Amino acid sequence: MNEKQDTSKLWGGRFNEPTDSFVQRFTASVNFDQRMAIEDIEGSLAHAAMLTATGVLTAQELADIREGLGKIRDEISTGRFNWSVELEDVHMNIEARLTQLIGITGKKLHTGRSRNDQVATDIRLYLRSAIDAIAAELTRLQRGTVGLAAQQAATIMPGFTHLQTAQPVTFGHHLLAWNEMLERDYSRLLDCRTRLNQSPLGAAALAGTTYPIDRNMTAAALGFDRPTENSLDSVSDRDFAIEFCAFAALLMTHLSRMSEELVLWASAQFNFIELPDRFCTGSSIMPQKKNPDVPELVRGKVGRVNGHLISLLTLMKSQPLAYNKDNQEDKEPLFDTVDTVLDSLRAFADMVPAIRPKTEQMREAARRGFSTATDLADYLVRKGLPFRDAHEVVGKAVAHGVANDQDLADMPLATLQDFCQAIDSDVFEVLTLEGSVAARDHLGGTAPRQVTAAAERARARLEQR
Ligand code: ARG
Repeated sequence: MNEKQDTSKLWGGRFNEPTDSFVQRFTASVNFDQRMAIEDIEGSLAHAAMLTATGVLTAQELADIREGLGKIRDEISTGRFNWSVELEDVHMNIEARLTQLIGITGKKLHTGRSRNDQVATDIRLYLRSAIDAIAAELTRLQRGTVGLAAQQAATIMPGFTHLQTAQPVTFGHHLLAWNEMLERDYSRLLDCRTRLNQSPLGAAALAGTTYPIDRNMTAAALGFDRPTENSLDSVSDRDFAIEFCAFAALLMTHLSRMSEELVLWASAQFNFIELPDRFCTGSSIMPQKKNPDVPELVRGKVGRVNGHLISLLTLMKSQPLAYNKDNQEDKEPLFDTVDTVLDSLRAFADMVPAIRPKTEQMREAARRGFSTATDLADYLVRKGLPFRDAHEVVGKAVAHGVANDQDLADMPLATLQDFCQAIDSDVFEVLTLEGSVAARDHLGGTAPRQVTAAAERARARLEQR
């Protein structure tokens, strides 16, 4: 050090006064980016091995770096590492400690790289393992959903449009609709992983480096499919984080729709399901209450995830190439998205297989809502009426049923014939709930045998993962 102010910074050489203490705190990221410490170490190990292969570092230097980084990894994983805000971020904290441990060789590690390609590498590595954990949890949820669907392939419930009873469906069919949403989420997640899995290492600050480097070697060592193409893009690109948050926003939207249905179904008014007590909480004042907190909370959490997506989009908007400090703001939204998605999936994967359907109540609700009215209209069409006339006839019969609190299936044949002479005693088969669902017997339909087959196909697809 010369006699000018010792700023104790790794970049302090050109500075004449220490950083303002507020600015230090304001610009530091170590409090949150230390979450990527293990990835930072992996990246450094790959970089050091590559520099040794290209003759920049000696074998002894590499051995020292490995030993030092190994110690640091232990210190971090056992909570003994001393994180310092003065050292700004995870990268400089680890590098400074390495130099403390192994001396001058520690300072050579940063040869041919910059924190700009380093941080881009760390986030990709971090997000890649988060994606793998999320994929596993999503698969667990899908297995549970499909398993319950297979058990409930013939359980009748009202299907809704406009939240009004529409036509009978099976509970298994409804659950498989959930699974389709999740299946698309899964494929979006894998898609994101593919584009993410490229190595920015070697882009250095923005233009590449003058040292002999082997970008293929570091990419392979870190499990990336290949190095990124352009150094400017490599250090500034955060598309992968945005894509991930877009996946997450849509997944959370799906979970919020499922949550909404669970909340409705668990209410005394619907009374379609029982959620096990372990997923609910009570009220401190109303002793009768059992609140479906878990689905309610998941429904609420979509808000923060949508917010994080907008944060990242806005963060990147209008950023000139290449790296800008703005990018440090990518981490907290990304990390919170990962946490929220993992927790929400975990809650759902535990809860869905434990849903106890109240099959009698579901059936009764379907019976009460004139849900087979369309079946009666279709029956009349088969007897030769134009569909519009059939619609009119059935509308009158339903109005009569509403006035007399009587379901179509409970009306005497003579009453039905008052609405249309073409009605015969064979009508009662089509007015039953079982007849109604069984008649929708085609690919994607609600007939129990179709639901069983669809659940089997879904199960086989999950098996392939
Ligand atoms: N903490 C920084 C970030 O998260 C690391 C990169 C900083 N690079 C720089 N040139 N200041 O983005």
